[in-house]
Amino acid sequence: VGRGQGALGVLNRCLPLLSCPVCGGTLGVADTSLRCARRHTFDRARAGYYDLLPPGHGRTAIPGDVRTMVEARRRFLGRGHFDSISDTVIDLALRTPPAVVLDAGCGEGWYLSRLMRAHEAPTDACFIGLDISRDALRLAARTHRDALFLVNDVGHRLCVADASVDVLLNIFAPRNEHEFARVLRPGAALIVVMPADDHLRELRALVPLLGIQHDKRERTLARFDTAFEVGAQQEVRYATSLTPDDVRDVVHMGPSHWHVTSDFQADALRVTVAVDVMMLRRI
Ligand SMILES: C[S@@+](CC[C@H](N)C(=O)[O-])C[C@H]1O[C@@H](n2cnc3c(N)ncnc32)[C@H](O)[C@@H]1O
Ligand SMILES: [Zn+2]
Repeated sequence: VGRGQGALGVLNRCLPLLSCPVCGGTLGVADTSLRCARRHTFDRARAGYYDLLPPGHGRTAIPGDVRTMVEARRRFLGRGHFDSISDTVIDLALRTPPAVVLDAGCGEGWYLSRLMRAHEAPTDACFIGLDISRDALRLAARTHRDALFLVNDVGHRLCVADASVDVLLNIFAPRNEHEFARVLRPGAALIVVMPADDHLRELRALVPLLGIQHDKRERTLARFDTAFEVGAQQEVRYATSLTPDDVRDVVHMGPSHWHVTSDFQADALRVTVAVDVMMLRRI
């Protein structure tokens, strides 16, 4: 099945890679659901994503990013402020053009879809985005019809077969070293983007905690030490000028959303963008 055939084409391409979150069995299509041989069944949402959380798993406890955050992020990313980050990710990801790409914590799918467009893809390439947030995946699935979006908790078992993934993106999102090692085939690339200490530092005068911890990069590398070797490390650093709308969106698209009121206003501001982009190779 070729690309550009919408939701069904992408599902058929990716189906062999998926596994049941309850028993680990392979999944098949049953009406508008996915179902394994033991009849564990997972529904397709109207927007087109599939809910692959095991029954009872954190339905209300962990919604991930809520709609206001997702919409703010879409507007902000659409205005180009993080294009250089995305370009660096694309450059690393396409060093060995991948057939299977997984984005863990994909949000509304902006990075995944930019990679998809940059990729002179083999027609059977499979792009899968995982996120815990239904609000994020609703927007992702409606916009990016050539990728498959699945509700998954990165903190638990991912619904993807062992050693099946060529490139795994993990961009400003939670990580799971055991699961990432399991789903990546030997030689495959894990591309991690994380904020450096002074990322968006000018914003901290305006809003409390943007949640950047010290030594993040070293600690992350240490956690991935046993199954990965460092393939590339790059710091992406520049300044960008934000309009008042941009400032409002960048505040609402991250954890600081929970610490400001909805009528938060700000002046234009020039901010530092500073992130570490790492490519780790699965040994
Ligand atoms: C800062 S956003 C980044 C989204 C996207 N990678 C981007 O940079 O545009 C973090 C994302 O991680 C998701 N997330 C948080 N906890 C998660 C979990 N346990 N499993 C999967 N996704 C999670 C959130 O819903 C959100 O979409
Ligand atoms: Zn099952």
